[in-house]
Amino acid sequence: MNKIISGLILACVTLSVKAQTDENLGIIPAPVSVAKKTGFFKLDKTVVLVSNETSNAATADILNAYITTQGGFALRSAKEAAGQRAIILSSAGADQLPEEGYVLEVNGKNITVTGKGAGLFYGVQSLMQMMPEKKGQEIDVPASTIKDYPRFKYRGMHLDVGRHTFPVAFIKKYIDLMAAYKLNSFHWHLTEDQGWRIEIKKYPKLTSVGAERAGTIVGHHPGVTTDNTPYKGFYTQDEVKEVVAYATKKFVTVIPEIELPGHSSAAIAAYPQLSCFPDRDTFIDPKTPWAGDRKGKHVQQTWGVFDDVFAPTEYTFKFLEDVLDEVMVLFPSKYIHIGGDESPKEYWKQSPFCQQLIKEKGLKDEHELQSYFIQRIEKYINSKGRSIIGWDEILEGGLAPNATVMSWRGVEGGIAAAKLNHDVIMTPGTTGLYFDHAQSSSAGEPVNIGGNAPYSKAYAYDPVPESLSADQKKYIKGVQANVWTEYIETPEKVEYMVLPRMFALAEIAWTPLDKKNFKNFSEDRIPLHLARLDKTNTNYWVPVPIGQTDKQIDGQDITIDLKVPVQGAKIYYTLDNTTPSEVSAQYRSPLKISVPKGKKLLLKTIVVTPKGKHSVILETPLNNAG
Ligand code: ACM
Repeated sequence: MNKIISGLILACVTLSVKAQTDENLGIIPAPVSVAKKTGFFKLDKTVVLVSNETSNAATADILNAYITTQGGFALRSAKEAAGQRAIILSSAGADQLPEEGYVLEVNGKNITVTGKGAGLFYGVQSLMQMMPEKKGQEIDVPASTIKDYPRFKYRGMHLDVGRHTFPVAFIKKYIDLMAAYKLNSFHWHLTEDQGWRIEIKKYPKLTSVGAERAGTIVGHHPGVTTDNTPYKGFYTQDEVKEVVAYATKKFVTVIPEIELPGHSSAAIAAYPQLSCFPDRDTFIDPKTPWAGDRKGKHVQQTWGVFDDVFAPTEYTFKFLEDVLDEVMVLFPSKYIHIGGDESPKEYWKQSPFCQQLIKEKGLKDEHELQSYFIQRIEKYINSKGRSIIGWDEILEGGLAPNATVMSWRGVEGGIAAAKLNHDVIMTPGTTGLYFDHAQSSSAGEPVNIGGNAPYSKAYAYDPVPESLSADQKKYIKGVQANVWTEYIETPEKVEYMVLPRMFALAEIAWTPLDKKNFKNFSEDRIPLHLARLDKTNTNYWVPVPIGQTDKQIDGQDITIDLKVPVQGAKIYYTLDNTTPSEVSAQYRSPLKISVPKGKKLLLKTIVVTPKGKHSVILETPLNNAG
C-alpha cells in the first residue's frame, strides 16, 4: 500500500478509536455523566430521522446537514421509527430535565436525543462530536447514555469589533464555534475610541465619521509609525438583524455593548457636543504616530485610554437614550452592556459644568458622578424592561441597583458585587480568560498585547470564588472570555487567539467541577478536536508537545517523553541549537539524551499538523552541571 495512503488510514483509525475509548466520548465540554455500553449504532443511509415537533426542525436540519457532510448521505424523515433504525429527536418529557439539559441514548437500534430548545440542540452537538470518521459506508456511534446540563447559565465569548472589525460571515462563524461548544452569550463590543461600528439612523455621523480612522499605529503601542491607511467599517441595522436571527437559531443570545462614559472618542469625533470641551482638539501625544490632521476631534489611531469622555449633559443623555432605543429594537437580549470601564475623570475635574453638577446633585466626587451617569442610563434601560451589565468599575461611587457586574480587573470586583447581592459574570484578565494575551512565552508568538495565558491557565480557573458564602456563590451567573482586537487584525488571527482556549472556557462554563480532568482534556480530547479543525479552513494555535516544558531539566541521562497535541501531527526536534523544521529529526518515541558533564544542551521542538500548520518553537534547556 502506498505509504501516504496507509498513513492517512492510520490517522483516521486513530481518530475514531480515540473518540470511542475516551471516557467522555471525545465530547467538549465534558458531560455531566457518560455511561458507555458495548456495541455501536451503525449510522448509514437506511437510518431514518424522526423529529416531529416543529420547534425542533432547525436543529434536525443542522444534524442532517452534518451527517451529509460526514457521511455523504442525508437521512430520510419519518413520522415514527416503525421498526426501522432511527435517530429520534424529541421534546417529550424534557420539562423534567434541568434547563438547557438533554439526555442522549445510543443503542444498536436507535439514537434518541431528548431535550427542549437549547437542550435538544446541545444533545445534537454532543452526538455530532461523538461521530467518528466514516468507515466504509457507515459511521459507528458508540452505544452509551449521556445525561447533561450546564454548570452556569451564562457562558460567554466577547469580541471587540471597535479596534478591528470583521465581516458578517465571520461573526456567524464565531457564533457557530461558540454554539458547537455550548457557549450561549455573544458579547458584541460595538463601540470604541477607534471606531463606532453600528448604524444608528438618528445619528448618521456615528458611522459616516465615527466608523473611520485615518490610520493605525504600526507595531506594539506606542508604535513605530502609522500605516497612513484609512480603516473603516460598520454593521448596518439589516446586518445586525441578520446576525441576531442567525444566533437565535443556534441558541446564542447577542448582547450589544455601547460603551459609556469612556472609550467614546469615535462618538465624540462625530458629535463633538458630547464632550465636556467640544472645541478642544483631541489630545494626541506628540510621540504618537498620526495620519492626517491633528486639529479638531478625531477617531483614535492608537490604543489606550483617553480623557475625552462623554459629558454628563442633557444633550448626552438624550443622545444615549436615542441610541439605546434603536439598539433595544435590534437586540432582544435581556441584557444591554453599557461598558463603564476605564473612564478617566480628568475632563470632568476640569469642567465647570461637571463640578456644578456634582454640587447640585450632592455628589462627593467624580466617581459618584460616574455612578450618577450609570444609574441614569440603568433607569432608562430598566424602564424598557431590560437590564444592564457593566464592567467592574461600575462598583465605584455606588453600584446601580439592578446591575450585573462583569469582573475583569481580577476577581475582587465579582466578589464585592456578589456580597452586595448583585449578579456577576466572571471574566478576570488574571486567570487566562483574556484571549488577546499570548498563549506561550515563545518569542515566536505573533504580536499581541502581552501576558502569557496558555489554555491550561483558563482550564485551572474556577469562576466561583472560595471566599463567598453558599448564598453569595449563587450570584455567580457565569463566565466569559474576552477578545480585544488591538493586535488582532483578521478573522484568521481571531481564530488563532481563541482556539483552543475557547475549549477550556467551554469546559469551565459547562462541566461540573468534579468532572474536570486536565489530562483527559489536553491529551485525549483537544488533540481530536484540533485534528478535526485542521481539516477545515479554521485557524488555531498549534499546542506545543504534551509533556514538554520550557523549564530547565538537570541531570546526565535525561528522558524526554512527549505526545502530539493534535492527532496525526508530527514533532520534529534538534539538540544542536538549530531551528527545528520538517527536515529535522522526527520524534517517534521517548528520547534518552546523555548530557556531557559540565554541558548544557537545548532541546528545541516544533509540531507540524497534517495540514502543515506549525507550532511555535519550544525550548527546554538540559543541564548537566557535573
Ligand atoms: C476591559 O478589559 N477594559 C474591560
